[in-house]
Amino acid sequence: MIIKPVIDGVVARSAHPLGCEQAVLNQIEYVKSSQLIPNGPKRVLIIGGSSGFGLASRIALTFGAQADTISVSFEKAPSEQGTGSAGFYNNYYFKRHAKRAGRIAVNIHGDAFSKQIKDDVIEAIETYFEGEVDLIIYSVASGVRPKEQPGQFWRSAIKPIGQPVSGTTLLLENDQWYNSTLEAASEEEAEATRKVMGGEDWEAWIDALINSESLAHGCKTIAFSYIGPELTHPIYLDGTLGRAKIDLHQTSHSLNLKMANFEGGAYATVCKALVTKASVFIPGLSPYIIALYKVMKEKGTHEGCIEQMLRLFSSKLYGSERVPVDGERLIRMDDRELDADTQSQVKQLISEMDCGNFMQLGDYSGFKHEFLNLNGFDLQGVDYSTDINIDKFIK
Ligand code: NAI
Repeated sequence: MIIKPVIDGVVARSAHPLGCEQAVLNQIEYVKSSQLIPNGPKRVLIIGGSSGFGLASRIALTFGAQADTISVSFEKAPSEQGTGSAGFYNNYYFKRHAKRAGRIAVNIHGDAFSKQIKDDVIEAIETYFEGEVDLIIYSVASGVRPKEQPGQFWRSAIKPIGQPVSGTTLLLENDQWYNSTLEAASEEEAEATRKVMGGEDWEAWIDALINSESLAHGCKTIAFSYIGPELTHPIYLDGTLGRAKIDLHQTSHSLNLKMANFEGGAYATVCKALVTKASVFIPGLSPYIIALYKVMKEKGTHEGCIEQMLRLFSSKLYGSERVPVDGERLIRMDDRELDADTQSQVKQLISEMDCGNFMQLGDYSGFKHEFLNLNGFDLQGVDYSTDINIDKFIK
């Protein structure tokens, strides 16, 4: 079959296997052409390793630190009904290229929130890592988390807290600027979002790994967060997502105490705003991202997931004697995004942007290109007229 991009609003409904392989290869090439990560970890567990920051960290550590990896992800496999999700192919091709480079790469498919998957990972650590891990990366971005009662779920809500907020979503399906007003979240919605995207499951993973004696001496753990500039605060930091991230930051402190028993540490890591499967959903964030991309690309300070992750491991988590953190003990990878001159230019651009000129003023083409890339489309060097045998992947 010939696979074309199918976008529903901001959700990709198709993925291209060869394009996903190319996107993985491009990241591998970037890492290989950079300096090695000094004193990097050798046995790494990534929870949410099939796309975005999780996949980029897996590639950075495998090819920049010769690490072996176990990754957990929840992706849609191809079927008679459709191509499945990009993460499925990312896992498939990452594993192939890691194995060619002589590295162990184990893919575990399933729900990271479940006890079963935690048990499966502990077994895989026994089998492939001689029982211990050096680094645990928690990079899950999910909308739902099952409750203990079967068939019941917490569902996250991306909403402001206290008062309604108006924001724009850029509909990638038809390149439209779409304004909407989001009502303030109820207390139940804010709490459900904390349950899904806060620190509880990260802590459950670390507790499970401590109980199974799977943490190596000096083991570290990180999870990703976002803060952003003031203009995104109403929808992000002051909203339901921000509440969940503050919970994650607090969890990093309690985990840090537990990890100290192994001479290790736990850090919430604040990253830059980037186009990923998860971030295009957040109303109000897309106009900010296209303005930010425009300014940072012009200044030469733009980074994608792989650049962020390589810099994190080389110069923050493993590059120095002490992990550099801010006053709230957060690792800041958003320093270039929050640079004062960058932000003043972004603010100016956003004030001039509207539904008629956003493609000219902001970097909408870069935004869309990156979104298509995430799903294996619009990549140089891929022949999209190739007839793809999906059955091979179904089998
Ligand atoms: P993504 O959507 O690209 O990746 C999410 C990963 O979570 C995928 O591997 C997916 O398979 C996995 N996943 C989702 N539900 C799962 C489940 N139930 N069980 C197992 N795996 C599951 O997301 P992205 O953007 O890389 O986000 C990762 C983290 O980084 C999130 O905490 C996000 O808030 C944070 N972050 C994202 C920023 C952005 O601009 N994209 C900026 C700063 C932080």
